[in-house]
Amino acid sequence: MREHDLYERYESSFDGADTKQRMGKRGKRTADDAEPTRRGRMTEAEKLRVSRLREDQLSSADTPEDGDRWSTWGDAEQGPKPHPSWLVTELAAVDRELGIVKTGKEADVFLLERAMGEKACLLAAKRYRSNDHRMFHRDAGYLEGRRMRKSREMRAIQNRTAFGRNLIAEQWAVAEFAALARLWQIGAPVPYPVQRSGTELLLEFIGDDEGNAAPRLAQTRPDEDELLDLWRQLVAMLMTLAEAGLTHGDLSAFNLMVHEGRLIMIDLPQVVDLVANPRGVEFLDRDVRNIAGWFAARGLPPEIGDPSALVATLLDVAGMA
Ligand SMILES: Nc1ncnc2c1ncn2[C@@H]1O[C@H](COP(=O)(O)OP(=O)(O)O)[C@@H](O)[C@H]1O
Ligand SMILES: [Mg+2]
Repeated sequence: MREHDLYERYESSFDGADTKQRMGKRGKRTADDAEPTRRGRMTEAEKLRVSRLREDQLSSADTPEDGDRWSTWGDAEQGPKPHPSWLVTELAAVDRELGIVKTGKEADVFLLERAMGEKACLLAAKRYRSNDHRMFHRDAGYLEGRRMRKSREMRAIQNRTAFGRNLIAEQWAVAEFAALARLWQIGAPVPYPVQRSGTELLLEFIGDDEGNAAPRLAQTRPDEDELLDLWRQLVAMLMTLAEAGLTHGDLSAFNLMVHEGRLIMIDLPQVVDLVANPRGVEFLDRDVRNIAGWFAARGLPPEIGDPSALVATLLDVAGMA
């Protein structure tokens, strides 16, 4: 790691919430990790030394004997209440990583088990990568347009330093968590958003008890009746979003899962506000045409799956007709 990265991490460790996480209540404190006693500005060497100590603390933090880490529930931004009954919320629970569900360019999804004695639940951990998101197909000025807390953060993002790239990844996690929480609360079929900390989201795992993820819509071969049923679910889902003035923004047969016959929408960091976004209607139109194209190719009759009619209905529901 380059020194200026370390310095940036050191600086960032003074941002309230972050400090709490880094110095987490289970982090061991050792005799030689005393903060410098002298007041005032530290020299670069001192800053570096403190930052190295913090790194060491992180890596030597105690881990449970029978898992990969203690539950991070207590330190994270938590999902909307009421919390579902299947969710393990005990602070003494243990998280164990069971495997990779899918790796991607912008995020990786892992399978996690959170357990406390007999009670356990499976979770999907979606971790945004902090590689250079300049190539991120959803990046188009979206984050730069938002007001950041500090100009230092803005600069870091513009210059794409390691710290800046991490901030971008975190912003995507924040955006997706907020979108999922909102959609969950209005009754849209999305995985329950359990928590977010840093660049990691924990979501309700959509799949079976063995940890096999449900197929994406694109991987299914529905018969005629199933296809019609899925289309009806899709229309209902898009209506729920439109009523709230929203569209997915990247809708495709890869961002819909089919679990026990139910259609579930995922991958929502770029959710689009139809009114606030000047290209809102364009995004809605693109979403509908993309997904209607998949249904048409699978044999849905054109008079049922007509994208223009559906766009008109959705704009009407959104009060934008
Ligand atoms: N809650 C979940 N439960 C089970 N599998 C999931 C869940 N969320 C995502 N996945 C799997 O991970 C893949 C990637 O997730 P997605 O949110 O689409 O991220 P991206 O496309 O940005 O990499 C999905 O296609 C799906 O197979
Ligand atoms: Mg996706």
